Amino acid sequence: MSLNSFAHLYEEATIVESRKSVLDILDNHAPQLHSEMSILDLACGSGTVTRVIYEQCATKNIKPPRLVGVDIGDMFIDAFNANKKAYGWETAEGFVGDASDLHMCKDNEFDLVIMSYGLFAVADAVANKVAAEIRRVLKPGGRAFFTVWRDNFVSRMLQGANKGVGRPQEEIDRHDLGKWSLAETSHNTLVAGGFEPSKVTHFRHDDTFGTANQNSFLDRFDMPFWKNIGTAAWTDDQKPRWRAEVEKVILKEQEERGGLQANCWIFVAEK
Ligand SMILES: C[S@@+](CC[C@H](N)C(=O)[O-])C[C@H]1O[C@@H](n2cnc3c(N)ncnc32)[C@H](O)[C@@H]1O
Repeated sequence: MSLNSFAHLYEEATIVESRKSVLDILDNHAPQLHSEMSILDLACGSGTVTRVIYEQCATKNIKPPRLVGVDIGDMFIDAFNANKKAYGWETAEGFVGDASDLHMCKDNEFDLVIMSYGLFAVADAVANKVAAEIRRVLKPGGRAFFTVWRDNFVSRMLQGANKGVGRPQEEIDRHDLGKWSLAETSHNTLVAGGFEPSKVTHFRHDDTFGTANQNSFLDRFDMPFWKNIGTAAWTDDQKPRWRAEVEKVILKEQEERGGLQANCWIFVAEK
């Protein structure tokens, strides 16, 4: 089962940490928001970036910019459109599309592209093409921002729980961050897409999954979204073991690392 099937559960499970990294981009690295801008929310999911931009515009009393959301998952775009309706995103439009073929976008169309937790999600074979498409649709001087996981408790939770119930190694390995945890992977991908090496920079955004106590951590990762992602291939005998297996990983992480890490790279590429 793919992430697309769980699109309706995705936002509730991830918005707290995603909002913080998008805010870091908007507050500390991106040009100031204004209503004349055009922004591409690429691999938008249900529209996390769009949602945070709308929240910021409301707080700062700015008329929202034009926003275009593109995601390969049709159910994510259904969720984006449901949010558009619920939150009144009048300047936003969502499209089902592949980031490696942004034919619905013109050359030099966007001031900003934000790809939040999306670059590592595209197929390896098209990652360079995605970078080239982003460069094509950016205005000269425009900037693209990317958040990419560097060290993430969720990946260790999914690996640990799968290992705990004895799933095959290839299923465990599927949850490893692999080469994308290394800064050079994103850097090289962006340069291969045509960005000048001197115009590709990166920062660290360090965070932890924070809730009040052990039970609320467990409740959080016992949500249908994480449970469905973690146990999709498990047998009916294994599925009830999810919560106990997650608890073991949480205890280990707290002992070894003092918290549940949610650390990412923020990459910036300027055209
Ligand atoms: C981890 S989610 C991130 C969603 C959202 N940007 C956020 O920050 O919450 C990754 C998203 O990338 C999308 N995706 C994967 N491959 C893609 C591609 N080739 N083109 C467009 N979207 C893609 C998935 O459908 C999914 O919605």
